[in-house]
Amino acid sequence: MKTRETTRLSRTQVAIIGAGPAGLLLQQLLHVAGVESVVLEQRSRAYVESRIRAGVLEQGTVDLLDRIGVNARMRREGLVHGGFSLVADDDRFRVNLRDLTGGMNVMVYGQTEMTKDLIEAAELRGTPVIFEAEGVALHGVDGDRPFVTWRKDGQEGRLVCDFIAGCDGFHGVSRQSIPQRDLTTYERVYPFGWLGILADVPPCDHELIYANHERGFALASMRSETRSRYYLQAPMDVNLADWPDERIWDELAVRLGPAAAANMRRGPSIEKSVAGLRSFVAEPMRWHRLFLAGDAAHIVPPTGAKGLNLAASDVHFLSEALLAYYGSGSTNALDAYSGRALKRIWKAERFSWWFTGLTHRFPDTDAFSRRMQIAELDYIKESRAAQVTVAENYVGLPLS
Ligand code: APR
Ligand code: PHB
Repeated sequence: MKTRETTRLSRTQVAIIGAGPAGLLLQQLLHVAGVESVVLEQRSRAYVESRIRAGVLEQGTVDLLDRIGVNARMRREGLVHGGFSLVADDDRFRVNLRDLTGGMNVMVYGQTEMTKDLIEAAELRGTPVIFEAEGVALHGVDGDRPFVTWRKDGQEGRLVCDFIAGCDGFHGVSRQSIPQRDLTTYERVYPFGWLGILADVPPCDHELIYANHERGFALASMRSETRSRYYLQAPMDVNLADWPDERIWDELAVRLGPAAAANMRRGPSIEKSVAGLRSFVAEPMRWHRLFLAGDAAHIVPPTGAKGLNLAASDVHFLSEALLAYYGSGSTNALDAYSGRALKRIWKAERFSWWFTGLTHRFPDTDAFSRRMQIAELDYIKESRAAQVTVAENYVGLPLS
Protein backbone atom coordinates (compact mmCIF):
# COMPACT_ATOMS: atom_id res chain seq x y z
CA MET A 1 0.00 0.00 0.00
CA LYS A 2 1.14 3.55 -0.68
CA THR A 3 1.85 5.30 2.57
CA ARG A 4 1.52 9.03 2.84
CA GLU A 5 4.25 11.37 4.05
CA THR A 6 4.52 11.10 7.81
CA THR A 7 4.24 14.87 8.10
CA ARG A 8 0.77 14.76 6.53
CA LEU A 9 -0.27 12.26 9.18
CA SER A 10 0.74 14.42 12.10
CA ARG A 11 -2.69 14.53 13.75
CA THR A 12 -5.51 12.05 14.01
CA GLN A 13 -8.26 11.16 16.44
CA VAL A 14 -7.22 7.61 17.26
CA ALA A 15 -3.72 6.17 16.76
CA ILE A 16 -3.98 2.42 16.38
CA ILE A 17 -0.88 0.30 17.02
CA GLY A 18 -0.89 -3.00 15.11
CA ALA A 19 -2.46 -4.16 11.83
CA GLY A 20 -3.80 -7.48 13.06
CA PRO A 21 -7.52 -8.17 13.06
CA ALA A 22 -8.07 -5.99 16.17
CA GLY A 23 -6.39 -2.88 14.75
CA LEU A 24 -7.75 -3.21 11.22
CA LEU A 25 -11.31 -3.93 12.36
CA LEU A 26 -11.23 -1.03 14.81
CA GLN A 27 -10.07 1.30 12.06
CA GLN A 28 -13.01 0.37 9.81
CA LEU A 29 -15.56 0.49 12.65
CA LEU A 30 -14.40 4.03 13.39
CA HIS A 31 -14.20 5.00 9.73
CA VAL A 32 -17.80 4.06 8.90
CA ALA A 33 -18.89 6.31 11.77
CA GLY A 34 -16.70 9.22 10.66
CA VAL A 35 -13.87 8.95 13.19
CA GLU A 36 -10.32 9.24 11.83
CA SER A 37 -7.52 6.90 12.71
CA VAL A 38 -4.06 5.83 11.56
CA VAL A 39 -2.76 2.27 11.92
CA LEU A 40 0.96 1.80 12.62
CA GLU A 41 2.34 -1.67 11.93
CA GLN A 42 5.91 -2.80 12.43
CA ARG A 43 5.84 -5.57 9.81
CA SER A 44 5.48 -5.38 6.03
CA ARG A 45 2.14 -5.77 4.31
CA ALA A 46 3.34 -9.00 2.69
CA TYR A 47 4.28 -10.43 6.08
CA VAL A 48 0.95 -9.50 7.69
CA GLU A 49 -0.96 -10.95 4.72
CA SER A 50 0.81 -14.27 4.79
CA ARG A 51 0.67 -15.03 8.51
CA ILE A 52 -1.26 -18.24 9.08
CA ARG A 53 -3.71 -18.09 11.95
CA ALA A 54 -7.02 -19.64 13.00
CA GLY A 55 -10.12 -19.62 10.89
CA VAL A 56 -13.44 -19.86 12.72
CA LEU A 57 -15.58 -16.73 12.96
CA GLU A 58 -18.39 -16.42 15.47
CA GLN A 59 -21.70 -14.97 14.32
CA GLY A 60 -20.88 -11.70 16.12
CA THR A 61 -17.60 -11.36 14.19
CA VAL A 62 -19.41 -12.04 10.90
CA ASP A 63 -21.98 -9.38 11.86
CA LEU A 64 -19.20 -6.84 12.45
CA LEU A 65 -17.70 -7.55 9.02
CA ASP A 66 -21.17 -7.14 7.51
CA ARG A 67 -21.66 -3.87 9.36
CA ILE A 68 -18.43 -2.34 8.05
CA GLY A 69 -19.09 -3.70 4.56
CA VAL A 70 -15.94 -5.84 4.41
CA ASN A 71 -17.88 -9.00 3.78
CA ALA A 72 -18.18 -9.69 0.05
CA ARG A 73 -15.43 -12.31 -0.24
CA MET A 74 -16.22 -13.85 3.13
CA ARG A 75 -19.89 -14.24 2.10
CA ARG A 76 -18.76 -15.79 -1.20
CA GLU A 77 -15.96 -18.05 -0.03
CA GLY A 78 -16.60 -18.62 3.69
CA LEU A 79 -18.08 -21.95 4.75
CA VAL A 80 -21.08 -21.81 7.09
CA HIS A 81 -20.86 -24.61 9.66
CA GLY A 82 -23.90 -25.59 11.71
CA GLY A 83 -22.01 -28.05 13.89
CA PHE A 84 -18.76 -29.83 14.75
CA SER A 85 -17.78 -33.28 15.99
CA LEU A 86 -16.16 -34.51 19.17
CA VAL A 87 -14.29 -37.81 19.26
CA ALA A 88 -13.23 -39.84 22.27
CA ASP A 89 -11.40 -43.05 21.52
CA ASP A 90 -13.12 -43.56 18.17
CA ASP A 91 -16.55 -42.73 19.61
CA ARG A 92 -17.70 -39.73 17.59
CA PHE A 93 -20.73 -37.48 17.96
CA ARG A 94 -21.89 -34.21 16.48
CA VAL A 95 -22.70 -31.03 18.36
CA ASN A 96 -25.48 -29.49 16.30
CA LEU A 97 -24.75 -25.82 16.89
CA ARG A 98 -27.64 -24.54 14.82
CA ASP A 99 -30.25 -26.63 16.55
CA LEU A 100 -28.85 -26.15 20.06
CA THR A 101 -28.56 -22.36 19.81
CA GLY A 102 -31.76 -21.54 17.98
CA GLY A 103 -30.17 -20.99 14.58
CA MET A 104 -26.62 -19.77 15.20
CA ASN A 105 -23.68 -20.93 13.06
CA VAL A 106 -19.99 -20.29 12.76
CA MET A 107 -18.20 -19.24 9.58
CA VAL A 108 -15.00 -20.95 8.51
CA TYR A 109 -12.93 -18.23 6.85
CA GLY A 110 -9.20 -17.87 7.42
CA GLN A 111 -7.98 -14.99 9.52
CA THR A 112 -5.36 -14.50 6.82
CA GLU A 113 -8.12 -13.87 4.26
CA MET A 114 -10.00 -11.56 6.61
CA THR A 115 -6.81 -9.56 7.18
CA LYS A 116 -6.25 -9.21 3.42
CA ASP A 117 -9.85 -8.00 2.98
CA LEU A 118 -9.44 -5.42 5.74
CA ILE A 119 -6.16 -4.12 4.32
CA GLU A 120 -7.73 -3.85 0.87
CA ALA A 121 -10.69 -1.96 2.36
CA ALA A 122 -8.28 0.41 4.13
CA GLU A 123 -6.53 1.06 0.83
CA LEU A 124 -9.75 1.67 -1.11
CA ARG A 125 -11.24 3.87 1.61
CA GLY A 126 -8.06 5.88 2.08
CA THR A 127 -7.78 5.00 5.77
CA PRO A 128 -4.03 5.07 6.40
CA VAL A 129 -2.08 1.98 7.39
CA ILE A 130 1.64 2.59 7.77
CA PHE A 131 3.57 -0.65 7.42
CA GLU A 132 7.20 -1.17 8.43
CA ALA A 133 6.95 1.45 11.17
CA GLU A 134 10.03 0.73 13.30
CA GLY A 135 10.51 1.53 16.95
CA VAL A 136 6.93 2.62 17.62
CA ALA A 137 6.85 4.44 20.97
CA LEU A 138 3.97 5.88 22.98
CA HIS A 139 4.30 9.26 24.69
CA GLY A 140 2.23 11.41 27.03
CA VAL A 141 -0.38 8.73 27.51
CA ASP A 142 -1.23 10.04 30.99
CA GLY A 143 -1.61 13.64 29.76
CA ASP A 144 -4.04 15.45 27.45
CA ARG A 145 -2.02 15.20 24.24
CA PRO A 146 -0.65 11.74 23.69
CA PHE A 147 1.47 11.07 20.64
CA VAL A 148 3.19 8.18 18.93
CA THR A 149 6.61 8.20 17.26
CA TRP A 150 8.25 5.74 14.85
CA ARG A 151 10.89 5.53 12.16
CA LYS A 152 10.40 4.67 8.55
CA ASP A 153 12.69 5.14 5.55
CA GLY A 154 15.17 7.04 7.69
CA GLN A 155 12.55 9.60 8.81
CA GLU A 156 10.90 10.00 12.17
CA GLY A 157 7.13 10.06 12.20
CA ARG A 158 5.12 11.72 14.92
CA LEU A 159 1.39 11.40 15.30
CA VAL A 160 -0.56 13.45 17.82
CA CYS A 161 -3.91 11.96 18.76
CA ASP A 162 -6.74 11.97 21.30
CA PHE A 163 -6.44 8.27 22.15
CA ILE A 164 -4.18 5.32 21.45
CA ALA A 165 -5.57 1.85 20.77
CA GLY A 166 -2.99 -0.81 21.64
CA CYS A 167 -3.84 -3.59 19.17
CA ASP A 168 -0.28 -4.87 18.81
CA GLY A 169 -0.60 -8.40 20.06
CA PHE A 170 0.98 -10.23 22.96
CA HIS A 171 4.55 -9.06 22.27
CA GLY A 172 3.63 -5.49 21.36
CA VAL A 173 4.83 -2.24 22.85
CA SER A 174 1.46 -0.98 24.13
CA ARG A 175 0.97 -3.19 27.16
CA GLN A 176 4.67 -2.79 27.96
CA SER A 177 4.18 0.98 28.08
CA ILE A 178 1.91 0.64 31.12
CA PRO A 179 3.74 0.73 34.49
CA GLN A 180 3.77 -2.78 35.92
CA ARG A 181 2.28 -1.61 39.20
CA ASP A 182 -0.87 -0.52 37.37
CA LEU A 183 -1.50 -3.89 35.69
CA THR A 184 -2.52 -7.24 37.12
CA THR A 185 -1.72 -10.24 34.97
CA TYR A 186 -3.02 -13.80 35.13
CA GLU A 187 -1.29 -16.56 33.24
CA ARG A 188 -1.20 -20.29 32.58
CA VAL A 189 1.28 -21.79 30.15
CA TYR A 190 0.32 -25.29 28.97
CA PRO A 191 2.98 -28.00 28.93
CA PHE A 192 2.56 -28.84 25.23
CA GLY A 193 2.00 -27.23 21.84
CA TRP A 194 0.06 -27.76 18.62
CA LEU A 195 1.88 -29.06 15.57
CA GLY A 196 -0.11 -27.66 12.64
CA ILE A 197 -0.07 -28.46 8.94
CA LEU A 198 -1.78 -26.89 5.99
CA ALA A 199 -2.27 -28.96 2.84
CA ASP A 200 -4.10 -28.54 -0.45
CA VAL A 201 -6.32 -31.56 -0.03
CA PRO A 202 -10.09 -31.70 0.59
CA PRO A 203 -11.03 -31.87 4.31
CA CYS A 204 -11.83 -35.30 5.78
CA ASP A 205 -15.26 -34.09 6.90
CA HIS A 206 -17.58 -31.21 6.02
CA GLU A 207 -17.18 -29.85 9.59
CA LEU A 208 -14.42 -29.65 12.24
CA ILE A 209 -13.47 -32.67 14.36
CA TYR A 210 -11.91 -32.26 17.84
CA ALA A 211 -10.46 -35.53 19.19
CA ASN A 212 -9.34 -36.67 22.62
CA HIS A 213 -7.08 -39.67 22.10
CA GLU A 214 -4.89 -41.61 24.50
CA ARG A 215 -1.90 -40.34 22.50
CA GLY A 216 -3.05 -36.71 22.69
CA PHE A 217 -5.38 -34.19 21.09
CA ALA A 218 -6.01 -33.83 17.35
CA LEU A 219 -8.08 -31.39 15.31
CA ALA A 220 -9.28 -31.60 11.72
CA SER A 221 -10.07 -28.15 10.36
CA MET A 222 -10.11 -26.48 6.97
CA ARG A 223 -9.71 -23.26 5.08
CA SER A 224 -11.84 -24.16 2.07
CA GLU A 225 -13.23 -27.20 0.29
CA THR A 226 -9.80 -27.83 -1.15
CA ARG A 227 -7.50 -26.76 1.67
CA SER A 228 -7.21 -28.60 5.01
CA ARG A 229 -5.72 -27.52 8.31
CA TYR A 230 -4.83 -30.20 10.85
CA TYR A 231 -3.30 -30.08 14.31
CA LEU A 232 -1.69 -32.62 16.64
CA GLN A 233 -0.88 -32.04 20.29
CA ALA A 234 2.92 -32.33 20.55
CA PRO A 235 5.70 -31.44 22.99
CA MET A 236 6.82 -27.82 22.65
CA ASP A 237 10.37 -28.91 21.93
CA VAL A 238 9.30 -31.26 19.14
CA ASN A 239 11.78 -31.42 16.30
CA LEU A 240 9.91 -30.87 13.02
CA ALA A 241 12.55 -32.92 11.22
CA ASP A 242 11.22 -35.93 13.14
CA TRP A 243 7.76 -35.28 11.73
CA PRO A 244 7.79 -35.78 7.98
CA ASP A 245 4.33 -35.40 6.41
CA GLU A 246 3.65 -39.15 6.28
CA ARG A 247 4.18 -39.49 10.03
CA ILE A 248 1.79 -36.60 10.67
CA TRP A 249 -0.90 -38.13 8.45
CA ASP A 250 -0.46 -41.51 10.17
CA GLU A 251 -0.79 -39.95 13.61
CA LEU A 252 -3.83 -37.87 12.59
CA ALA A 253 -5.50 -41.02 11.25
CA VAL A 254 -5.02 -42.77 14.59
CA ARG A 255 -6.12 -39.88 16.79
CA LEU A 256 -9.10 -38.68 14.71
CA GLY A 257 -10.60 -42.16 14.52
CA PRO A 258 -11.47 -44.61 11.74
CA ALA A 259 -14.30 -42.64 10.10
CA ALA A 260 -12.09 -39.57 9.61
CA ALA A 261 -9.12 -41.73 8.64
CA ALA A 262 -11.16 -43.41 5.91
CA ASN A 263 -11.94 -40.02 4.32
CA MET A 264 -8.60 -38.40 4.92
CA ARG A 265 -6.82 -37.26 1.77
CA ARG A 266 -3.09 -36.95 2.22
CA GLY A 267 -0.85 -34.52 0.42
CA PRO A 268 2.32 -32.49 0.83
CA SER A 269 2.19 -29.90 3.61
CA ILE A 270 2.46 -26.28 2.46
CA GLU A 271 3.09 -25.08 6.02
CA LYS A 272 4.19 -26.85 9.15
CA SER A 273 4.81 -25.25 12.55
CA VAL A 274 4.46 -25.65 16.30
CA ALA A 275 2.67 -23.10 18.46
CA GLY A 276 2.49 -22.92 22.24
CA LEU A 277 -0.71 -22.74 24.26
CA ARG A 278 -1.28 -20.06 26.85
CA SER A 279 -4.04 -18.45 28.86
CA PHE A 280 -3.28 -14.83 29.77
CA VAL A 281 -5.21 -11.75 30.88
CA ALA A 282 -3.91 -8.29 31.79
CA GLU A 283 -6.26 -5.95 33.61
CA PRO A 284 -7.42 -3.27 33.40
CA MET A 285 -7.39 -2.81 29.63
CA ARG A 286 -7.04 0.94 29.93
CA TRP A 287 -4.30 3.22 31.17
CA HIS A 288 -5.27 6.88 30.87
CA ARG A 289 -5.57 7.51 27.10
CA LEU A 290 -4.34 4.06 26.06
CA PHE A 291 -6.86 1.27 25.46
CA LEU A 292 -5.70 -2.32 24.92
CA ALA A 293 -7.63 -4.68 22.63
CA GLY A 294 -7.11 -8.24 21.37
CA ASP A 295 -3.96 -10.26 22.04
CA ALA A 296 -2.29 -7.17 23.54
CA ALA A 297 -4.48 -7.77 26.60
CA HIS A 298 -5.26 -11.48 26.55
CA ILE A 299 -4.40 -14.84 25.06
CA VAL A 300 -6.47 -18.00 24.95
CA PRO A 301 -5.33 -21.49 23.98
CA PRO A 302 -6.63 -22.15 20.44
CA THR A 303 -9.06 -24.90 21.42
CA GLY A 304 -12.40 -23.37 20.42
CA ALA A 305 -10.86 -20.64 18.23
CA LYS A 306 -11.70 -17.72 20.49
CA GLY A 307 -8.60 -15.52 19.95
CA LEU A 308 -9.69 -13.71 16.81
CA ASN A 309 -13.29 -13.48 18.00
CA LEU A 310 -12.27 -11.87 21.28
CA ALA A 311 -10.22 -9.32 19.36
CA ALA A 312 -13.38 -8.56 17.38
CA SER A 313 -15.60 -8.20 20.45
CA ASP A 314 -13.03 -5.95 22.17
CA VAL A 315 -12.92 -3.54 19.26
CA HIS A 316 -16.69 -3.61 19.00
CA PHE A 317 -16.87 -2.40 22.62
CA LEU A 318 -14.01 0.04 22.13
CA SER A 319 -15.46 1.55 18.96
CA GLU A 320 -18.82 2.04 20.68
CA ALA A 321 -17.10 3.83 23.55
CA LEU A 322 -15.02 6.05 21.25
CA LEU A 323 -18.06 6.91 19.13
CA ALA A 324 -20.04 7.79 22.26
CA TYR A 325 -17.20 10.11 23.27
CA TYR A 326 -17.00 11.78 19.86
CA GLY A 327 -20.81 12.03 19.72
CA SER A 328 -21.50 13.52 23.13
CA GLY A 329 -18.19 14.34 24.78
CA SER A 330 -19.07 11.97 27.60
CA THR A 331 -16.30 9.65 28.81
CA ASN A 332 -18.70 7.26 30.58
CA ALA A 333 -18.48 4.55 27.92
CA LEU A 334 -14.69 4.87 27.73
CA ASP A 335 -14.55 4.50 31.50
CA ALA A 336 -16.70 1.37 31.25
CA TYR A 337 -14.75 -0.22 28.34
CA SER A 338 -12.30 -2.34 30.31
CA GLY A 339 -14.90 -3.79 32.64
CA ARG A 340 -17.33 -4.50 29.84
CA ALA A 341 -14.73 -6.20 27.64
CA LEU A 342 -13.25 -8.22 30.50
CA LYS A 343 -16.61 -9.71 31.47
CA ARG A 344 -16.79 -11.38 28.08
CA ILE A 345 -13.06 -12.15 27.91
CA TRP A 346 -13.04 -14.08 31.19
CA LYS A 347 -15.91 -16.26 30.01
CA ALA A 348 -14.05 -17.04 26.78
CA GLU A 349 -10.91 -17.71 28.84
CA ARG A 350 -12.92 -20.16 30.90
CA PHE A 351 -14.34 -21.94 27.86
CA SER A 352 -10.96 -22.21 26.09
CA TRP A 353 -9.29 -23.49 29.27
CA TRP A 354 -12.10 -26.00 29.88
CA PHE A 355 -12.13 -27.24 26.26
CA THR A 356 -8.34 -27.63 26.37
CA GLY A 357 -8.55 -29.58 29.64
CA LEU A 358 -11.25 -31.83 28.26
CA THR A 359 -9.43 -32.80 25.10
CA HIS A 360 -5.67 -32.81 25.83
CA ARG A 361 -3.30 -35.18 27.52
CA PHE A 362 -1.44 -33.45 30.38
CA PRO A 363 1.77 -34.73 32.00
CA ASP A 364 -0.31 -35.62 35.06
CA THR A 365 -3.15 -37.24 33.11
CA ASP A 366 -3.25 -40.60 34.88
CA ALA A 367 -5.74 -43.40 34.23
CA PHE A 368 -8.29 -41.79 36.54
CA SER A 369 -8.16 -38.34 34.99
CA ARG A 370 -8.47 -39.77 31.52
CA ARG A 371 -11.56 -41.71 32.65
CA MET A 372 -12.93 -38.39 33.90
CA GLN A 373 -12.36 -36.81 30.47
CA ILE A 374 -14.04 -39.73 28.70
CA ALA A 375 -16.97 -39.69 31.15
CA GLU A 376 -17.44 -35.96 30.56
CA LEU A 377 -17.37 -36.41 26.79
CA ASP A 378 -19.87 -39.25 27.09
CA TYR A 379 -22.08 -37.06 29.27
CA ILE A 380 -21.96 -34.28 26.67
CA LYS A 381 -22.87 -36.82 24.00
CA GLU A 382 -25.97 -37.91 25.90
CA SER A 383 -27.14 -34.67 27.50
CA ARG A 384 -28.82 -31.94 25.51
CA ALA A 385 -28.29 -29.56 28.46
CA ALA A 386 -24.54 -30.17 28.34
CA GLN A 387 -24.49 -29.74 24.57
CA VAL A 388 -26.37 -26.43 24.83
CA THR A 389 -23.65 -25.16 27.18
CA VAL A 390 -20.90 -26.18 24.76
CA ALA A 391 -22.75 -24.83 21.73
CA GLU A 392 -23.62 -21.40 23.14
CA ASN A 393 -19.99 -20.86 24.09
CA TYR A 394 -18.67 -22.18 20.79
CA VAL A 395 -20.85 -19.90 18.63
CA GLY A 396 -19.90 -16.98 20.89
CA LEU A 397 -21.52 -15.38 23.91
CA PRO A 398 -23.54 -12.21 23.25
CA LEU A 399 -21.75 -8.95 22.53
CA SER A 400 -23.49 -7.22 25.41
N1 APR B 1 4.66 -1.71 16.70
C1 APR B 1 3.76 -1.85 15.70
N2 APR B 1 3.09 -2.99 15.43
C2 APR B 1 3.33 -4.03 16.24
C3 APR B 1 4.24 -3.95 17.32
C4 APR B 1 4.92 -2.73 17.53
N3 APR B 1 5.81 -2.59 18.52
N4 APR B 1 4.26 -5.14 17.95
C5 APR B 1 3.40 -5.94 17.29
N5 APR B 1 2.84 -5.29 16.25
C6 APR B 1 1.87 -5.79 15.29
C7 APR B 1 2.12 -7.23 14.86
O1 APR B 1 3.10 -7.29 13.83
C8 APR B 1 0.74 -7.65 14.38
O2 APR B 1 0.55 -7.37 13.03
O3 APR B 1 0.59 -5.85 15.89
C9 APR B 1 -0.21 -6.81 15.22
C10 APR B 1 -0.97 -7.63 16.23
O4 APR B 1 -1.81 -8.54 15.56
P1 APR B 1 -2.23 -9.96 16.17
O5 APR B 1 -1.08 -10.58 16.84
O6 APR B 1 -2.91 -10.70 15.08
O7 APR B 1 -3.26 -9.60 17.34
P2 APR B 1 -4.78 -9.12 17.29
O8 APR B 1 -5.02 -8.11 16.22
O9 APR B 1 -5.11 -8.79 18.70
O10 APR B 1 -5.57 -10.39 16.79
C11 APR B 1 -6.12 -11.37 17.60
O11 APR B 1 -5.77 -13.55 18.42
O12 APR B 1 -5.55 -15.81 18.75
C12 APR B 1 -5.20 -14.74 18.01
O13 APR B 1 -5.01 -15.71 15.87
C13 APR B 1 -5.62 -14.74 16.63
O14 APR B 1 -4.00 -13.27 15.69
C14 APR B 1 -5.28 -13.32 16.24
C15 APR B 1 -5.33 -12.62 17.52
C1 PHB C 1 -8.01 -23.56 12.63
O1 PHB C 1 -8.67 -23.88 11.61
O2 PHB C 1 -6.88 -23.09 12.53
C2 PHB C 1 -8.64 -23.77 13.95
C3 PHB C 1 -9.95 -24.19 14.03
C4 PHB C 1 -10.54 -24.40 15.26
C5 PHB C 1 -9.79 -24.22 16.41
C6 PHB C 1 -8.49 -23.79 16.34
C7 PHB C 1 -7.90 -23.56 15.10
O3 PHB C 1 -10.38 -24.46 17.61
